[in-house]
Amino acid sequence: MAEVVITARGVTKQFDGLVASSNVNFEICVGDTVGIIGPNGAGKSTFFNLLTGLYIPDSGTITYFGKDITKMPPHDRVGLGIVRTFQLVSVFDTMTVLENMMLARIRFDGTYGKKRFFLRNLLKSREVDGCMKALDTIGIAGKCDVKVSDLPYGKKRELEIAIALSMDPKLLLLDEPLAGMSMVEITEIMDIIKGLKSKLTIVLVEHKISKILDLVDTLYVMHEGQIICSGEPNMVICDPAVKECYFGRDNVCY
Ligand SMILES: Nc1ncnc2c1ncn2[C@@H]1O[C@H](COP(=O)(O)OP(=O)(O)OP(=O)(O)O)[C@@H](O)[C@H]1O
Ligand SMILES: [Mg+2]
Repeated sequence: MAEVVITARGVTKQFDGLVASSNVNFEICVGDTVGIIGPNGAGKSTFFNLLTGLYIPDSGTITYFGKDITKMPPHDRVGLGIVRTFQLVSVFDTMTVLENMMLARIRFDGTYGKKRFFLRNLLKSREVDGCMKALDTIGIAGKCDVKVSDLPYGKKRELEIAIALSMDPKLLLLDEPLAGMSMVEITEIMDIIKGLKSKLTIVLVEHKISKILDLVDTLYVMHEGQIICSGEPNMVICDPAVKECYFGRDNVCY
């Protein structure tokens, strides 16, 4: 049986009385691709923030390869291979593609620690090779010297995935990778994710359910902070509770 990568057990997080994550149980095994869907405000990004350490749960535990990481800070989790992208693309517009890569890479490299550094020196270092490799995997190595503000949104998203890859993830978390993309860009990003599927363990949050049904091995549905259904994707989307949370009780077809 495949080894379990990350688990959440009874994970709860409240914001001033609003229960954004309610007793969530979740797990993913090595090599699997899991999707999380759910209406706006369901708690999907909150759950990612809990898995990656941006939020600490009020109760419950998170383990990573059997180790309790519930209270571990985000940068330490990155060091262990838990790497994410954000719902809103988070890259620096005023820098080039390669500079963005380098900045992210040294930020998590202990050898740089709190030392001062000059980006122009880093661009001559051997770190460049790792960054170029990640850009090549995503197919944007040819854009390494382009200023990010000159890139279309889809390429910025691809850069963000390349940055994540440069951190040697074991577990890659993608928060709405298809959000705001044109149809052509969606096809490109989907091809990238399909390519990564055979190499990595992936969790992705996505609203465009039809695009990910054939991609994910397991689908979880969140609603009002709770996991209301999980399992084989095509079974899950036929579940009455899932239909109800998207379309309301009156529109559920049994
Ligand atoms: N830092 C915070 N402070 C207060 N409330 C928060 C915070 N983060 C999330 N919430 C609330 O928690 C709930 C879940 O939000 P979350 O962003 O996790 O939803 P989501 O499923 O990712 O939604 P979307 O599909 O729109 O991205 C929302 O009601 C949101 O307003
Ligand atoms: Mg979200």
